[in-house]
Amino acid sequence: MKILALETTCDETAAAIVEAGDSSGSPIQVLGSVVASQTDLHVEFKGVVPEIAARAHVERILPVIHRTVERSGVQIGELDAIAVANTPGLSGSLIVGLMAAKALCLALEKPLIAVNHLHAHIYACQLGCQESIYPCVGMIVSGGHSHLYRFDDPLTAHYLGGTIDDAAGEAFDKVAVMLGLNYPGGPEISRIAQTGDETAWAFPRSFISEQRLDFSFSGIKTAVRYAIAGPGKTNFDDVVLDSKQAADLAASFQAAVVDCLVAKAMQAIQQTGLGQLCVGGGVAANRRFRIQLEKACRDAQVNLHIAPTDLCTDNAVMGAIAVERYRAGLFESLDLDIAPGLVRVSR
Ligand code: KG4
Ligand code: ZN
Repeated sequence: MKILALETTCDETAAAIVEAGDSSGSPIQVLGSVVASQTDLHVEFKGVVPEIAARAHVERILPVIHRTVERSGVQIGELDAIAVANTPGLSGSLIVGLMAAKALCLALEKPLIAVNHLHAHIYACQLGCQESIYPCVGMIVSGGHSHLYRFDDPLTAHYLGGTIDDAAGEAFDKVAVMLGLNYPGGPEISRIAQTGDETAWAFPRSFISEQRLDFSFSGIKTAVRYAIAGPGKTNFDDVVLDSKQAADLAASFQAAVVDCLVAKAMQAIQQTGLGQLCVGGGVAANRRFRIQLEKACRDAQVNLHIAPTDLCTDNAVMGAIAVERYRAGLFESLDLDIAPGLVRVSR
């Protein structure tokens, strides 16, 4: 079957066409994929502005679909289903993708498939992998989410824990602003951290010695703020950091976040008794995180799958999880709505 998948949960407008056989486990081929990034629109605000994101999706969704169809060499009538990420995400952004998908379904008389964006981030690990990555502990670390799930299969997920405040990616983005770096902050912090001393600052590692599978990244943002302002001060607007100071702060911040993520991923493995760990989301592109996680999994003899770097940040190729729903006969009516919040147990 051939499926067109749409992704507009946050600030990337993306479409992909994937092809797969009807039988479970047969390989999935990506025929075409387009991602229109909105980074240039949000950079001056140093973060995603939901209203701007939604309007930009409206302008871009049709050209993105058109280019994807063109690149894939597929006639639009040959598609077997239209898939769309309808949860979780920014309401205004989700609506654009869902409306486009419904319009295509109506016009082409094709079935509609709902994609859970977080499940799709984990499914990115399955693409290009010969054996099944399920059952596994799935860790999503992105700009909007930092969560751990137990996945029994691609479509059955149970929430194990997650951030009680900010997502890891959001902490990267906010600390980058404090260090005078551009949005998105993750790649920028990672870049300058390479020359920094990660032991220069001992930033907090929340819950690290507790068994709960939760994260908290708001305290570390405050700690970085105090570190920049200097003892007893909170205002750092006039502080000018030299490149060594900025690099040390970035490296120490990154080390603290990575320590928390790695520790909780390994605790989740221990608590569930599962032998596979799958990681997706924008922060999974972080080099130091990948290295530390690989080491921890090697030591614990855990099978680690991290999404390929180009499939860590938002894209529609990971919407290939729709193939699993197609095979399971899970189609939606055109009454399907968006669900912006987190769904803890789902199928
Ligand atoms: O998955 P994603 O594209 O969007 C959401 O679903 O939220 O993730 C975007 C997040 C941003 O916060 C960005 O700063 C972060 O991923 N990110 C990184 C890196 N590349 C992207 N964080 C740390 N290191 C990176 N190399
Ligand atoms: Zn995402």
